[in-house]
Amino acid sequence: MTANAAVAIAHANIALSKYWGKREGSGNYPAVPSLSVTLAGLATRTRVTFDGAAENDAFTLDGQVAAPAARARVVEMLDRVRRATGETRRARVESSNDFPTASGLASSASGFAALAVAAARAAGLDWDAARLSDLARQSSASAARSLFGGFVELPAGPPMPDGSETLSARPVAPPGHLPLVVFVCVTTEGPKALGSSEGMRKTMAESPFARAWLDEAPRLHARLRGALLASDFLELGELAEASAFAMHASALAAGVVYWTGATIDVLAAVRGLRAAGVRAYATIDAGPHVKVLARHEDAPAIGAALRDCPAVRRVIEARPGEGASLAGGEGGAE
Ligand code: DP6
Repeated sequence: MTANAAVAIAHANIALSKYWGKREGSGNYPAVPSLSVTLAGLATRTRVTFDGAAENDAFTLDGQVAAPAARARVVEMLDRVRRATGETRRARVESSNDFPTASGLASSASGFAALAVAAARAAGLDWDAARLSDLARQSSASAARSLFGGFVELPAGPPMPDGSETLSARPVAPPGHLPLVVFVCVTTEGPKALGSSEGMRKTMAESPFARAWLDEAPRLHARLRGALLASDFLELGELAEASAFAMHASALAAGVVYWTGATIDVLAAVRGLRAAGVRAYATIDAGPHVKVLARHEDAPAIGAALRDCPAVRRVIEARPGEGASLAGGEGGAE
């Protein structure tokens, strides 16, 4: 029997070596490789129901009808699933985040990973994680990584070594590989000014440092991957900071500014910790928040210092977690 409904859960991920910039042309292929850690917190739960009586696809997020632009990206993925199966029914997509959606914390990665898993299953597809990762990537490249748990990499786009057009993320190390804690320091509430797709498009088109970033990112990625596999936290932290700073330097030079004063204050707090001999490292995505990397043993001191920092409104403490999965048993249907 073809399932009509399925529910999936996926978690956000934080890139340690950043994806910033796409290959030219269609298909949403990243121009550089990236490596992330999937977090146990920050989850999206999505139910997809293909309904013969529905006239249009409908998308609600945290119980509210989503904005047209957000709905359009959901419909694009549903269309890909419909093309793969011959499914013609419209779908109801009900999504909820267990973190404040409007906080500007990245939610597209967990959102599109959960949607890929739920939509494919609801349409009767039994795709493996690699194929679902490729499906998620076409909507949002960082979402490809949330299909897998622990430490995950997404290679750069074509030409692919095997000549194929699919591009999936792949696990590099399991969640327990490093005793890592990620402190998500929320600096401002409210949605971010410029989405990452537009931010990277502007960077590639206008930044005098775009070429420097595209050349440097794969080198940083390779070194960071090596540091991860060697369980060298200090090297990993240095390289994660270097990747974030290089990405933001290229963006800044195109007038793409995600930082606020609070972002810089948290960066100063992290440097202050390091000056005092405490090993904390920072990374920043397409928004004002700072994510701080720590080892388990240093986490209490680092967490306390970050909570004391006036620029920090809230701290979410997260650890490496599992990849996306169906909820509510085997079929994901509830
Ligand atoms: C800064 O995956 O949101 O978080 O593929 O256009 O949807 P699209 O971009 P997205 O970009 C994420 C950028 C980043 C770095 C990263 O996660 O690697």
